[in-house]
Amino acid sequence: MGQPITIKQLKDKKRAGEKFTMLTAYDATLAQQCENASVDMILVGDSLGMVVQGHATTVPVSVDDMIYHAKAVAQGAPKTVKMVDMPFMSFAYPTQAIDNAARLMQEGFAEIIKIESTAHQAELITALSRNGVPVCAHLGLTPQTIHKLGSYGQRGKESAEAQEILDSAKTLEQSGADMILLECVPAALAKQVTEAVSVPVIGIGAGKDVDAQVLVIYDVLGVSSYIPRFAKNFLAESDSVEGAIRLFVEEVKSGRFPTS
Ligand code: KIV
Repeated sequence: MGQPITIKQLKDKKRAGEKFTMLTAYDATLAQQCENASVDMILVGDSLGMVVQGHATTVPVSVDDMIYHAKAVAQGAPKTVKMVDMPFMSFAYPTQAIDNAARLMQEGFAEIIKIESTAHQAELITALSRNGVPVCAHLGLTPQTIHKLGSYGQRGKESAEAQEILDSAKTLEQSGADMILLECVPAALAKQVTEAVSVPVIGIGAGKDVDAQVLVIYDVLGVSSYIPRFAKNFLAESDSVEGAIRLFVEEVKSGRFPTS
């Protein structure tokens, strides 16, 4: 096994026009499978509230839950970049956000934290960045706000909302965000954001014209109770879990996944 992957190397991939990959994992065993299959990043997502804990939303997830799973993932994948979600209401005010980001990094071994964002998080992202915390700003569908949104449908279909997402991406990059994650937005908008910012844009349900793709690992393995339309069961075309993850990596890097 080679050297640990760094966030800087992933930023260089964007500049070189080379796609990279991220999968969610919540435990050491699947994290190790991801690392063996050369996934570049692992997301310890608060989706664990739904797919591991069985809740209806991600809202009940706590910082302690995130740390528990992030620690396990760090044991299984020491060389893969680990992104960890700041859960619901863990970043509502600046001192709380900084304390919780510190816990995710010091106790959970996060290398980059992810915040479901709007342009309102600009100052917070600057404060974190100035304190040496790499941040990924999550835009588009933000599942922690489900009780305000009312559904998990696509965001940015209307031109005003699309403009807001594009503007937020630019503002948050200027504020210090190291990466942008776009969830469930039209492919054309994702392409526009990817071209407008110099940091890597990771997409999920955001089409093919982004710098990296992320999926929930249970969708890749075809074991989720509901597999979204934009995801793919890679295990159906493979004979092992590691093989399925390798196929995901190959198809993203070669531009075969997603198809549009
Ligand atoms: O929590 C999560 O798994 C996520 C992905 C769906 C991007 O945020």
